[in-house]
Amino acid sequence: MKEKQEKIRSEFSKDLESVKTTADLNDLRIKYLGKKGLITELTKNMQELSIDERKEVGRISNDLKNELTEEMTKLESSLKEKELNAKLASEKIDISMPSTKVSVGGVHPLTKICDELEELFISMGYDVVSGPEVEIDKYNFEMLNLPKDHPARDAQDSFYITDEELLRTQTSAVQVRSMLKNQEKKPFKIVCPGKTYRRDADDATHSHQFMQMEGLVVGENITLSDLKGTLEEMARKMFGRDREVRFRPSFFPFTEPSYEVDVSCMKCGGKGCNICKGTGWIEVLGSGMVHPNVLNGCGFDSNKFTGFAFGIGIERIAMLKYGINDIRDFYTNDLRFLKNYNRIEGGDK
Ligand code: DAH
Repeated sequence: MKEKQEKIRSEFSKDLESVKTTADLNDLRIKYLGKKGLITELTKNMQELSIDERKEVGRISNDLKNELTEEMTKLESSLKEKELNAKLASEKIDISMPSTKVSVGGVHPLTKICDELEELFISMGYDVVSGPEVEIDKYNFEMLNLPKDHPARDAQDSFYITDEELLRTQTSAVQVRSMLKNQEKKPFKIVCPGKTYRRDADDATHSHQFMQMEGLVVGENITLSDLKGTLEEMARKMFGRDREVRFRPSFFPFTEPSYEVDVSCMKCGGKGCNICKGTGWIEVLGSGMVHPNVLNGCGFDSNKFTGFAFGIGIERIAMLKYGINDIRDFYTNDLRFLKNYNRIEGGDK
């Protein structure tokens, strides 16, 4: 028995020397103290022994077990410490290293203009509505006082899908939709931002796809001074309080009288420059009092109701406000343009 004990001891000492990691130590523990371990082996055939012999074997194997456990525990704590130190060294974070830049998206300039306008009109009590981009001829033209052979249709060369369906050429179609939807014939104020399409050849100032924001107010006693006050406020909010606003008589089939609204040039302040083509003024929108034919056609009695409407060119506002010279920049999605724009706006750096 003594011999066996010594043999285990010396084998253990040898094994212990080759232990390098806590995993090795675990294997060692299993080899000696596990269910089929060498110490358990010692007590295997106990039933064949006398009571005294059993006691002796029990004592020896217990001593051995305690002895080996003690040595392994000692080694374990030093191995754990070593391993922890190695881990800390390898996972060290150098906080002086340059960081990896995370790219953050920004708001597109056209969305930004729409957001600003919406916020302004909401504060004046308007609802923001939307309409379909594939529109019927009846709403895009006919009910806006532009019958099939009306010459003013030529100014809006259209993408027809069928004889009666087209990509809307103006958000004005939503005027008709809003009035038809209002069965109770109650006064209302809406703005509608959205995409519009015309068969224009793309160049620096034309795009076959562009954005407008339509506005419509219908009620009793709505007058030209309401239109004037509203649009002056809009122009000053968008371009600055010191801007002059001018209403120039114009023609649109769906309004009478009609006006185009000009703002004093933000580059030269009205003296005349290349941006305003020497006139000192820049046109920003079309507007007018809703034509009685349009009101009556949509079920609003023009003897009782009046209204005003306007259509703002979103790209134009953005180009003027941010000094963008080419309308195509909005649609080619060149990241350099978008990033540069967002830098100006204090977005992604
Ligand atoms: N729809 C017109 C256009 O695309 C703009 C416009 C002019 C809208 C006068 C209006 C308006 O609502 O009253 O050129």
